[in-house]
Amino acid sequence: MPITTCIFDAYGTLFDVTAAARQAANEPGNDDLARVWPSLATNWRNKQLNYTWLRAITGVHCDFWQVTQEALDWSLAAEGLPTEGALRKRLLALYWELSAFAEVPAMLRALKDMGMNTAILSNGSPAMLDGAVQSAGVGDVLDDVLSVESVGIFKPDARVYELVEKRFACARDEVLFVSSNGWDAGAATGFGFTTAWVNRGNDPVDRLPWTPEHILTDLSQIPTLVQEIS
Ligand code: LAC
Repeated sequence: MPITTCIFDAYGTLFDVTAAARQAANEPGNDDLARVWPSLATNWRNKQLNYTWLRAITGVHCDFWQVTQEALDWSLAAEGLPTEGALRKRLLALYWELSAFAEVPAMLRALKDMGMNTAILSNGSPAMLDGAVQSAGVGDVLDDVLSVESVGIFKPDARVYELVEKRFACARDEVLFVSSNGWDAGAATGFGFTTAWVNRGNDPVDRLPWTPEHILTDLSQIPTLVQEIS
């Protein structure tokens, strides 16, 4: 089936999740963070994802903003940095307005010009996603922003991917699902979507029951991929 609908993961895929720690580390007065920011950013992301999976498995849901704060608190503590005060507040403010990767606006515009449906499907809460979409200025090239909050469970639960089918009334293989998270792209393959993994870090493929169908190094290749597989 030709692709009609391009769906994007948000955090790490459209929006650069390392940008908050990197930017705060460059600001005056944050010398302690400057020494450890790469490890803080890695821990923050890994704990954030671990907490979503643990909450999904145990059925103890809260929204992604709470998970993001709890993961940051663990990561600050791991570096011996204060878990209250100005630095924590600044990191969270920057996370709310993460920058998009440079190629994102032109890539989404190209897909709209090709007549594609475009949307985000994310663990993010609606308010967080709204903050990121506004600050990246990509609201006009997205048809919708779908949040797991409407089903109350995190990825990779199938109810999350079903949100796309319901919203766009399309067959699963008409959907190109794009994620920088190998496990997310893999799970979406298992669900029946056509999938692309954006592997900026040249990481190994996750050893899971499903694998991403296409592997790209950044998002600029998406419009060409859509043409090739349609
Ligand atoms: C999201 C996380 C998985 O945006 O990056 O859903």
